[in-house]
Amino acid sequence: MADLKKEIENRRTFAIISHPDAGKTTITEKFLLYGGAIQEAGMVKGKKNSRHAVSDWMEIEKQRGISVTSSVLQFRYEGKCINILDTPGHQDFSEDTYRTLMAADSAVMVIDASKGVEAQTRKLFKVCAMRGVPIFTFINKMDREARDPYELLEDIENELGIGTYAVNWPIGSGKRFKGVYDRMDDEVIAFEGADFRHEVKAQRLSIDDPILEGLLPEDQYQTLIDDVELLSGAGDEFDLKAVHEGKLSPVFFGSALTNFGVEPFLKKFLQMTPPPTARTADIGVIDPFDPHFSAFVFKIQANMNKAHRDRIAFMRICSGKFEADMDVKHVQSQRVMRLSQPQQIMANDRKILSEAYAGDIIGVFDPGIFSIGDTLCMPKEQFTYEGIPTFAPEHFARVRQVDTMKRKQFVKGITQIAQEGAIQIFQEIASGMEEVIVGVVGTLQFDVFKYRMENEYNVEIRMENLPYSHIRWIDTPDVDLKKLNLTSDTKKVQDIRGRYLLLFANEWSIRWALEHNEGLELSEFSR
Ligand code: G4P
Repeated sequence: MADLKKEIENRRTFAIISHPDAGKTTITEKFLLYGGAIQEAGMVKGKKNSRHAVSDWMEIEKQRGISVTSSVLQFRYEGKCINILDTPGHQDFSEDTYRTLMAADSAVMVIDASKGVEAQTRKLFKVCAMRGVPIFTFINKMDREARDPYELLEDIENELGIGTYAVNWPIGSGKRFKGVYDRMDDEVIAFEGADFRHEVKAQRLSIDDPILEGLLPEDQYQTLIDDVELLSGAGDEFDLKAVHEGKLSPVFFGSALTNFGVEPFLKKFLQMTPPPTARTADIGVIDPFDPHFSAFVFKIQANMNKAHRDRIAFMRICSGKFEADMDVKHVQSQRVMRLSQPQQIMANDRKILSEAYAGDIIGVFDPGIFSIGDTLCMPKEQFTYEGIPTFAPEHFARVRQVDTMKRKQFVKGITQIAQEGAIQIFQEIASGMEEVIVGVVGTLQFDVFKYRMENEYNVEIRMENLPYSHIRWIDTPDVDLKKLNLTSDTKKVQDIRGRYLLLFANEWSIRWALEHNEGLELSEFSR
């Protein structure tokens, strides 16, 4: 029991979010280096030396240089067992990011110091805020000309509506970047030049150390003294409770590429970030330290590795300990089973696990029974974790197979990709699967869908964009579809579970439908 408690207390599970190019991959790589999970920089990513990121394993990601799917990386550092959830960098995949965040206990937000909050930072932040997860900010690329640090903090506070607390403070930027002042430890970590590729030497000095005055140009020394005074005078106390409630973001400045400030950030972050947090189920809150195993599925991915041709369900363990040979219950199907090939997945590397603890993410072979949001628990228990909402699709296309002989593959491909939650599928009322309407949150998902149908299922498809942008499920029981009074550009469809929906071209048509059909109940989410 003591072991269980210690193991769980030492787990840290977090997601990394950023606008593309802010430095998320570079930071992740440094984390892995410190943890000894990789031996050499560039193993995670080196666009120039043509090695692709360990976490960017899908072909399309390699082609486009964007991260489409999330992956999980685990490593140990200073006695902590750390699970990093990498999130897709592109806004079209924010639904995937949302699901990934459901599995995380906190998030690290990486910001480019020359740019501040960018479009994608804003969107991803909103997704974090929906769950109230603690957010830690790393302002990266201080070795390049950066915006004024006060301005950057203001930008975060105003744009994102969250308080900030600068844990360290930069001394200059670009060619004049001299290091950071650590406000918590009251010391200066001096940055001693770099060739932009290798680790820099850092020297720790107290703020009143006379060496410091000699080390810094006069104007920078004076600015630092003034800044330190100003910051301490501002009197904003560091409030860990506000951090854990997602109301205050601790901010760190550094430069991931030159390896400056990343390890100090990791150390402080690990102290401040919470161990596995309790999750809510229909019977109440489940304590992570409860020795009984429980988990929920947050992601399903087919054909992760072409050689394996399998489907993996990723689950976040919420309580207790998982052992490979134990029986567990899949609550939605009421089946008691052994999870097949439980593994930790690091891109193409897979490690079969014998045990895992609350906070850990494991992947298991899915014979086609799991859906996103499903709960697993001990055979004698019965509860379900809170569901994961689906985002309302905003883009629709009619999809047909080019070769009608490939019907079986077409149906299989489209159904499996829909089960993963990458697309949503709809049909004309009372028609078969000859033609399917596909809905997505971001249009890039169409490209991924087409690519996967062709490469993984060997089916060529044709897509015709449809002019709808809003979707509403009909909640009115026993609705008579024929009697509905709708604008001519509104379309009636049904989802795979047979529920009726309306696709609208604009908000105006939604209002029309509600005004002209008494008692009509519409909802944006499927229940
Ligand atoms: P992402 O995952 O958030 O998309 O960003 P990534 O780490 O891939 O970094 C984007 C680019 O920014 C990379 O350059 C990377 O080397 C650079 N970068 C990351 N951190 C820093 C930093 O602290 N300082 C500076 N100056 N640059 C940084 P690239 O040219 O796109 O790739 P590469 O050719 O260097 O691999």
